[in-house]
Amino acid sequence: MPRDPTGEERDSLRLLTCGSVDDGKSTLIGRLLLDSGAVFDDQVAALTEDSRRYGTAGDDLDPALLLDGLEDERQQGITIDVAYRYFSTEKRSFVVADTPGHEQYTRNMASGASNAELAVILVDARKGVLPQTRRHSVICSLLGIRHVVLAVNKIDLVGYDEAVFDAIAAAYRQFAAALGFASLVPIPISARFSDNVTSRSARTPWYRGPAFLEQLETVDVSSATLALPFRFPVQWVNRPNADFRGFSGTVTSGAIGIGDELAVAASGRLSRLRDIVTFDGSRDEAAAGDAVTLVLADDVDVTRGDLLCRSTERPEVADQFAAQVVWFSEAPLLPGRSYLLKIGGRTAPATVTALRHRLDVATLEHFAAATLGHNEIGLCNMSTSVPVGFDAYKDNRTTGGFILIDRLTQDTVGAGMIAHALRRAHNIHRQAITIGKAERAWLKRQAPAILWLTGLSGAGKSTIADHVEQALHAQGFHTTLLDGDNVRHGLNRDLGFTEVDRVENIRRVGEVARLMSESGLIVICSFISPFRAERQMVRELVEPGEFIEVFVDTPIEECRRRDPKGLYARADAGQIVNFTGVDSPYEPPSDPEVRIVTSQITPQEGAKQVIAYLREQRVIDR
Ligand code: ADX
Repeated sequence: MPRDPTGEERDSLRLLTCGSVDDGKSTLIGRLLLDSGAVFDDQVAALTEDSRRYGTAGDDLDPALLLDGLEDERQQGITIDVAYRYFSTEKRSFVVADTPGHEQYTRNMASGASNAELAVILVDARKGVLPQTRRHSVICSLLGIRHVVLAVNKIDLVGYDEAVFDAIAAAYRQFAAALGFASLVPIPISARFSDNVTSRSARTPWYRGPAFLEQLETVDVSSATLALPFRFPVQWVNRPNADFRGFSGTVTSGAIGIGDELAVAASGRLSRLRDIVTFDGSRDEAAAGDAVTLVLADDVDVTRGDLLCRSTERPEVADQFAAQVVWFSEAPLLPGRSYLLKIGGRTAPATVTALRHRLDVATLEHFAAATLGHNEIGLCNMSTSVPVGFDAYKDNRTTGGFILIDRLTQDTVGAGMIAHALRRAHNIHRQAITIGKAERAWLKRQAPAILWLTGLSGAGKSTIADHVEQALHAQGFHTTLLDGDNVRHGLNRDLGFTEVDRVENIRRVGEVARLMSESGLIVICSFISPFRAERQMVRELVEPGEFIEVFVDTPIEECRRRDPKGLYARADAGQIVNFTGVDSPYEPPSDPEVRIVTSQITPQEGAKQVIAYLREQRVIDR
């Protein structure tokens, strides 16, 4: 049971409303507020005025307007963000997350659902269960919501017909059977006419279940967060002066007391809890929901994002795990691309290493897929750049849930629920090797580097790369050259030119280039590599300064004119699809180390420009 800010235990329910645009969601919650007396009189006066201006209920009070705080929502007639509403009755207090019904707003729904205990799934009695109803239900289930009210609204518009209600309830029950809800209560409702909202309606004498508010007031959602193992994601390290060092955050589950032994999940370091500091001074115990600063007895290394636990009840710690991912972005999920994964207070680069299946939300069937599109859900193998501490989402919604962020746009592009660590994560360890990159390079009397030539097909990358290698070789440097066309004959012969395949192409080449640079080589890579994200990913594989991006800058008109392999002509004729610059994008580097403008200089001069840069940066000394 969550505590309210006064520290008193109070029975509360967090609920989420989901439905399609016209299902009458806002009207239902607005009606609930009005009929339960939760609205203050001055608000009602304002509402009457608003109803006349924006409402859809003629001169009547439009209860939906109580919920629509945002101007543009009202004007568009749809809700566009998660709006939280608070109200209470004698029995309970409620936090209502009202989320948009429009399909493209799955993201908002998922953010509203992440801490909700009950979902109100709305359907229009005239339309029944729609694809969105199913999608929202699946997301609710994945997000750990265990209690559902199926509000069959607008029952007045089907003449309060029991058969219509029964058919919808049966269809939904059948679909939801696999979703593992602990309670599912269908209720015939007319939000407009207050039927079965706060009390049972005489117009549905055939209905024997609870009214909507009754169900909300009595449903038992107690989840024992207090009984779960103690978890404390460190939000920040509080170090006001040299004498004090504490770790601030909110206890997400369980409880802890002074003197208890704690472990830092990822490092396994141990210490005892010396003090629990709050705004009002020290205390002896902290429990789920408490925002506190923990002070440890020893000076162990703890940073923002670490997960503190009891030494006897540790979470999983792994850098590979399986998770259900809900994809929000218009741009598809690309396995192999590096995203930022945010879990608890920790943010780490992460990739999807395998998309195991996509879930069809209408049938709950699994399908093979190369990518996840907008609003799609799939089971993914994930890999993070560092081990992270977590629990399975089913055990702990806070320490088992994460979001994915696009590294370039900083948009939240997906949300994930961890299923389990991959066994391989525990069975594969890093081996310490005595001779490293520096030692190997020293024998060759050079510094290792990756020269990465990017540009359109026909820009002149391969020719320049060849000249660069000749020049370095003549000076006695040890080089190797990876070229797109060549690598695609061997290592990457299984890959084509879809976005997914290009990402994988560059990921593999990046790994190979890294291995070769670890042999002390100067690795010259010549790939279209059209996406900034993957070039950045390769850059981050090696140390600063070792990745040198060379933009072979040739306008597409010039590439077309040269068309050395006749590929532009074939692409224009529709014989090649996904051709870069024709029907597949190229994202030019924003800040390359070297830019070669091929319209002004010869390939030999371009190569000299690269060599000059290497000398200037002391990658080569002769
Ligand atoms: S990348 O986009 O994945 O980096 P890469 O450099 O490996 O591409 O391969 C590009 C080469 O493949 C081009 O130089 C061209 O010869 C050939 N090619 C064949 N089909 C395509 C296509 N659809 N788009 C671009 N290049 C293609």
